[in-house]
Amino acid sequence: MSIKTAPETSTGYDKSVFELLESKEHEQVIFCSDKKVGLKAIIAVHNTTLGPALGGTRMWPYKSEQEALTDVLRLARGMTYKAAVAGLNLGGGKGVIIGDPNTEKTEALFRSYGRFVEGLAGRYITAEDVGIEVRDMEWVRMETKYVTGISRALGGSGDPSSVTALGCYVGMKASAKRVFGSDSLKGKKVSIQGAGHVSTHLANYLRKEGAKIYISDLYPEKVNRIVTEAGAVPVDVDEIYDLDVDIFSPCALGGTLNSETIPRLKCPIVAGCANNQLLEEEIHGPMLIDKNILYAPDYVINAGGLINVANELEGYNRDHAHEQAMRIYDTLIDIYKLADEQGIPTYAASNELALQRLRQIGRIKSIYASKSRFSGRLGELNIGTGANRL
Ligand SMILES: NC(=O)c1ccc[n+]([C@@H]2O[C@H](COP(=O)([O-])OP(=O)(O)OC[C@H]3O[C@@H](n4cnc5c(N)ncnc54)[C@H](O)[C@@H]3O)[C@@H](O)[C@H]2O)c1
Repeated sequence: MSIKTAPETSTGYDKSVFELLESKEHEQVIFCSDKKVGLKAIIAVHNTTLGPALGGTRMWPYKSEQEALTDVLRLARGMTYKAAVAGLNLGGGKGVIIGDPNTEKTEALFRSYGRFVEGLAGRYITAEDVGIEVRDMEWVRMETKYVTGISRALGGSGDPSSVTALGCYVGMKASAKRVFGSDSLKGKKVSIQGAGHVSTHLANYLRKEGAKIYISDLYPEKVNRIVTEAGAVPVDVDEIYDLDVDIFSPCALGGTLNSETIPRLKCPIVAGCANNQLLEEEIHGPMLIDKNILYAPDYVINAGGLINVANELEGYNRDHAHEQAMRIYDTLIDIYKLADEQGIPTYAASNELALQRLRQIGRIKSIYASKSRFSGRLGELNIGTGANRL
C-alpha cells in the first residue's frame, strides 16, 4: 500500500506504509478487519519505551483509509509525548474505527474490535475518544480488560474533565508566574472559548480565586450556566479573539490558533485545554512568539485527563490523581525555562522534554532487572492480576 501524505506533511510525496512508520518511528500498526460486522479499524502503537501504549479509540467517517491511517499515526505519537512529559509510565497509542458514529454502531462491531484489542495482550490500552460513548466502551470491555476511563458504576474513575480542569488551572498560574512574576489570578481577566465539561470546572476554580471570566460557546444555554454559576461575562463566539485579557483559554476544538485568529489576540498568555490548538505548529508557534504571547503547550496543560485514567490502572485514588495533575505547574515552569535558554518555541521545548525522558528511561530499561514489581510498566504489572478492577 502506498499513500499520499496528508496535510501535516503535505509534500505531495508518496510513501509506503513502512516509510511512513519509519518517519515518525512508530513501532506497530494493526489493521483490524471483520467484514461480517463491518469492522475496519486501525490501531497504532507509537512507542512503548515507558509502558503500554494508552490512547482512546475514535470513530469517524474518514473519507479514505489513507486519511484514517494518517490520523491514527499522528494521534498515537501525540499520546507518547503527552504521557512522557506528564511523567507517566505509559506509551503512546491510538485506535480509529472507520465508520459513521451516528448510523454504524452495533454491539457486534465493538465486541469484534474489543477482541483485536485483547489480542494485543496489554500492549495497547484503549479508552473513549471522539465519536465513542460509554455504551460502546462497555461492549468493547466485554471482550477485553484493556480498557480504561470507564464509568464509576463499572469501577472506573468516571469523567476526567475535573482533573483536566485542575491541571489547566495550575498551568494558567504557572504561566502567570512567568509573565507577571506572580501566580495569583485574582483580578486577572480570562477569556474561555467553549463552555463544556472542562470549562465548567475551570470557571469554578477561577471564580474562587477572584478572576474575571469571559465565556463563549456555540450554545447559549451552556454559556448561561457558567454565567450563573461563576459570574462570567457572556461573549459572542467570534468576539472572543478580540478581547483585551490576561489569558485566552481555548477549551473548545483544535486549530483555533491560526493565521486569522492570532493577529487578533490581545493577551500575553494562551493557556487552554483543547487538543491541537495550533493549526500548524511550525507556523503558528513562532507567530505567537512574534506577538510576545506565551503559549502553554496543549498536551502538557491538558494532561490531567490522561493522568486520571493512568491512575485508574493502578487502582484509582482521586487525591493522588489531583496531586499528579498539580505537577503540571512545575512541568510548565521547566518548559518555559528550557524554551528561553534554547531560544525555541514552548511547543518545541516540551517535545524536547518528552524525547529526553524517552531517551533516559529507555536507557535504564536496558539494565536487567527480572520481572520485578518495580519494572515501572504499570499496565503490564496490574492488568489481569486481580489487584484492581481490571
Ligand atoms: N474532557 C477532558 O478531560 C479533556 C482532556 C484533554 C483534552 N480535552 C480537550 O479539551 C476540549 C474541551 O473538552 P470538553 O470535554 O470540555 O468538551 P465538551 O464537548 O464538553 O466542550 C466543548 C465545548 O466547545 C463548544 N464549542 C465548539 N466549537 C466552539 C467555538 N468555535 N466557539 C465556542 N465554543 C465552541 C461546544 O459547543 C462545547 O460546549 C476538547 O478539545 C477536548 O479534546 C478534554
